[in-house]
Amino acid sequence: KKVVLAYSGGLDTSIILKWLQTTYGAEVVTFTADLGQGEELEPARRKAQLLGIKDENIFIEDLREEFVRDYVFPMFRANAVYEGQYLLGTSIARPLIAKKQIEIAEKVGADAVAHGATGKGNDQVRFELGYYALKPDITIIAPWREWDLRSREHLIAFAEQHQIPIAKDKRGEAPFSVDANLLHASSEGKVLEDPAQEVPDYVYSRTIDPEAAPDQPTYITIDFEQGDAVAIDGGKMSPATLLAKLNELGRANGIGRLDLVENRFVGMKSRGMYETPGGTILLVAHRGIEQITLDRGAAHLKDELMPKYAELVYNGFWFSPEREMLQAAIDQSQRYVTGQVRLKLYKGNVILVGRDSEYSLYDQDLVTFEEGAVAYDHRDAAGFIKLNALRLRTLGQRKKKLGL
Ligand code: ARG
Ligand code: SIN
Repeated sequence: KKVVLAYSGGLDTSIILKWLQTTYGAEVVTFTADLGQGEELEPARRKAQLLGIKDENIFIEDLREEFVRDYVFPMFRANAVYEGQYLLGTSIARPLIAKKQIEIAEKVGADAVAHGATGKGNDQVRFELGYYALKPDITIIAPWREWDLRSREHLIAFAEQHQIPIAKDKRGEAPFSVDANLLHASSEGKVLEDPAQEVPDYVYSRTIDPEAAPDQPTYITIDFEQGDAVAIDGGKMSPATLLAKLNELGRANGIGRLDLVENRFVGMKSRGMYETPGGTILLVAHRGIEQITLDRGAAHLKDELMPKYAELVYNGFWFSPEREMLQAAIDQSQRYVTGQVRLKLYKGNVILVGRDSEYSLYDQDLVTFEEGAVAYDHRDAAGFIKLNALRLRTLGQRKKKLGL
């Protein structure tokens, strides 16, 4: 058996690597992706080598641009938010990892793939729906659902037995579980499991405390082209560079913290803490440019479709025809979502203060309280209101007549 493992280089996936070798007698191929999690990747290579992986079986790829351009930005065109608040930072990364794993499996002739997600969460679903969609005959190995290493002690004992190096702070119980990429850092479990208890300060890694943020606001402009951010303060940037820059601005102003109890696809509620500094700014900015460039009908339909789109991403159905259908509609709506917004960043807040576009549908002459356009005749409004009120008047009459 030849298995392509999504390998972070951390303790858990190193144990999985060894376990695949010893339990399955598998030839393991490791895949480590840079999604902007903020970790060096070379240590993962050395660790894989140390665990006996041949150089031709170690794959390391920088996916930051592809991640932001082909996954994060398309999702932000939809203004996707799960359950009103979650910006889907983990959910949107899984399909890309799955896709790369399958590509490598095809390349090296592997018949199986493996991941380090637990048997209780969303991530197992997202990875595996991705694998099956892209390679229907793939064999999937999910060690967390199979092995009997049920406790930290078992894991540590297994690691020691197989000479897997263990960082000092990993010996005891890790205080919480983290997943990070360019869009967000998410923390769950352990000290965070009681939703009545406030998240301790040390859990935050991407933002300073809003209370400690500067007393002076930071003003920025973001340029959009067809729904995608392309420049900050007039400087054109690649998608990943732009998101990284927004993350810096968000971090410094304490923007994008979220403490959320959400409904997992597998049925349970879970409590998580998210930090999405750049994404939080981007969402406000994108809605700002849509305000003047989208027609009401298109804008409202988009808002109706959004929760469905967000749920598809959350549940792992990125590679589904219904997600692609929605994406096509959303992308079509973005044709003239081009222009500039001005934002004020201040102590955890993103405040939209200006928007401008050559495609603007905003007509000051039409809306002004002063004497204005001929296209709008005040007298038309009386008939408009009367016809719309017809039902309400009929109902009112019945109510009055019968004393309801
Ligand atoms: N609950 C989030 C999601 O389902 C994040 C899951 C991974 N986070 C983690 N800390 N392990 O998308
Ligand atoms: C995991 O179970 O591996 C992380 C949490 C989740 O996927 O929901």
